[in-house]
Amino acid sequence: MTRRAILRGIGHYLPARIVENAELEKRVDTSDEWIRARSGIERRHFAAEGELTSDLAIHAARAALADAGFEPAEIDAVVVATSTPDTTFPSVATIVQGALGTGGFAFDVQAVCAGFVYAMSTANAFIQAGQAQRVLVIGAETFSRIMNWEDRTTCVLFGDGAGAVVLEAGDGAGANTDAGILATDLNSDGRFRDLLYVDGGVSSTQTTGVLVMQGKEVFRHAVEKLAQTAETALAAAGLGADDVDWIVPHQANSRIITRTAQKMGVGMDRVVMTVQDHGNTSAASIPLALSVAKEQQLFKPGQVLVMEAIGGGLAWGSVVLRL
Ligand code: UT7
Repeated sequence: MTRRAILRGIGHYLPARIVENAELEKRVDTSDEWIRARSGIERRHFAAEGELTSDLAIHAARAALADAGFEPAEIDAVVVATSTPDTTFPSVATIVQGALGTGGFAFDVQAVCAGFVYAMSTANAFIQAGQAQRVLVIGAETFSRIMNWEDRTTCVLFGDGAGAVVLEAGDGAGANTDAGILATDLNSDGRFRDLLYVDGGVSSTQTTGVLVMQGKEVFRHAVEKLAQTAETALAAAGLGADDVDWIVPHQANSRIITRTAQKMGVGMDRVVMTVQDHGNTSAASIPLALSVAKEQQLFKPGQVLVMEAIGGGLAWGSVVLRL
């Protein structure tokens, strides 16, 4: 018998305000045509003034709990992946815990755009160790708050949102036909920290700072590393590309998503794509994509999902999960 982290519920929340590419044309020297052609993004959501990352996280968490049919008190751990917390501390996760009344413990994971994959892997480890039974895993971000509006190469790419899942411990046979997380793969390489970072922080500038990215370089790493991590995790699960029903990738750029799928030999009819509607929401992008795909009734029990992401650090990784 093997303890498995089984997916019981999915939910998401997007702030009401939708910002079309055309609106950004008025703000910076860009065009709808350029943004679509280079990134695949058509629109994104921006949080309202006073609407915080924790607010988005709480909405998404409620939706995931309702989908799972669990009461907040039945949850014994909350893990929030975010790089845009309300404040330096406490964690967004404890704010969510306080608002919902979940039990156990709560903490944040910060691995930027790979955050959700890191949080899922962390939750899986707690469940497999017997330290948690039901874990709420949330990706929530307000990247609109760390945009440099003087830098057209980055400010047109990001958006706000949150997605959440509920994982529950269950018994599996230890085979890759089990439901639940079958394998995870995490990587980072701090030599590349200057490719994507925020130029402020508590200890350095005592300001929040804004996002700085060498897009072309990150793109190059993404195309190389994402297929690699997905294949490593699949191999660890004893599976191959032919076994994949859905790739649910980090949504940064449709060209990265397409090239990764091509490298893996998975057709685009098996890839969930939401970047056109959400932009890059960093750690929120995978759970948002999961939730949209679920609403579209794309998923069937027993199907194999591969989630993969890369971002600042660089940090990257993947999760293989059977529904
Ligand atoms: O989520 C974390 C991981 N992040 C990523 O995965 C992002 C990875 N990088 C990318 O997605 C792409 O590199 C970008 C979308 C950021 C940029 O696409 P690109 O094809 O690499 O374009 P580029 O940076 O080479 O820029 C091409 C041209 C440049 O003009 P010149 O030098 O050719 O004259 C830029 O100045 O496009 C220009 N440009 C713009 N033009 C209109 C850059 N930004 C804009 C803009 N509007 N917003």
